[in-house]
Amino acid sequence: MRMPLIAGNWKMNGSLALVDTFGRAFADASLPEKVEVALMVPFPYLGAATQALKDGGVAVGAQTLNDHLSGAFTGEVSGAMLTDLSVRYVLVGHSERRSLFGEDDAAVVARVKAALVSGLAPLLCLGETLEEHDAERTEAVVLGQLGAVLDALEPAERGCLVIAYEPVWAIGTGRTASPAQAQAVHAAIRDCLRRYDNALAEGMRLLYGGSMKAGNAAELLAQPDIDGGLVGGASLQVDDFLAICQSAG
Ligand code: 13P
Repeated sequence: MRMPLIAGNWKMNGSLALVDTFGRAFADASLPEKVEVALMVPFPYLGAATQALKDGGVAVGAQTLNDHLSGAFTGEVSGAMLTDLSVRYVLVGHSERRSLFGEDDAAVVARVKAALVSGLAPLLCLGETLEEHDAERTEAVVLGQLGAVLDALEPAERGCLVIAYEPVWAIGTGRTASPAQAQAVHAAIRDCLRRYDNALAEGMRLLYGGSMKAGNAAELLAQPDIDGGLVGGASLQVDDFLAICQSAG
């Protein structure tokens, strides 16, 4: 049985005051027992977030990390620094990192490895652009991104991943993949994992991301291969995010 995970990605949004609001709201909320919640906040808020969200049982994640363990990389943050702050998850391969910061599959692999060495759980994001979607290349693109990482890892390392399928055309656009569309891609991802190892495929949590909201979460989360959500915009509104967490139970 896979424990659903609802992860919020604040991107470059939020404030210390919002961290505090979430801390208080989650400490008071009664969430379903069998749902895990995580919040990926900007670097400067990680320390405050791990403190504020502790009582509410919310794990904290970062949005990226450097692939080196330490050294002369001005402005960068290492995995060890994140674990120092009790950070549990780190996003790797988000489409904004791929498109805006030039992170290709090799860069994604290097970051996944750095996360694993530091004891972080990498939340690996996969997804096709609108152009690729329209050219019916979704599976080829998504499974290509997945294979690049799986092939570079040892079998034991693969089991530490969480995977998120985020069609780029659905991110921040209000245009969600239909539950059937999302399920089809999730099923293809799980089939691909089966080619590596059956137990890996059965245990791996596959999250959907892209305009997930309180109003469409239940339908998406009801699909057999969708084990949670990676929520952008709606994770900045505490009531909306709580409602999505409730609907995963
Ligand atoms: P939205 O939920 O705002 O579409 O963002 C999704 C996302 O990119 C989460 O990582």
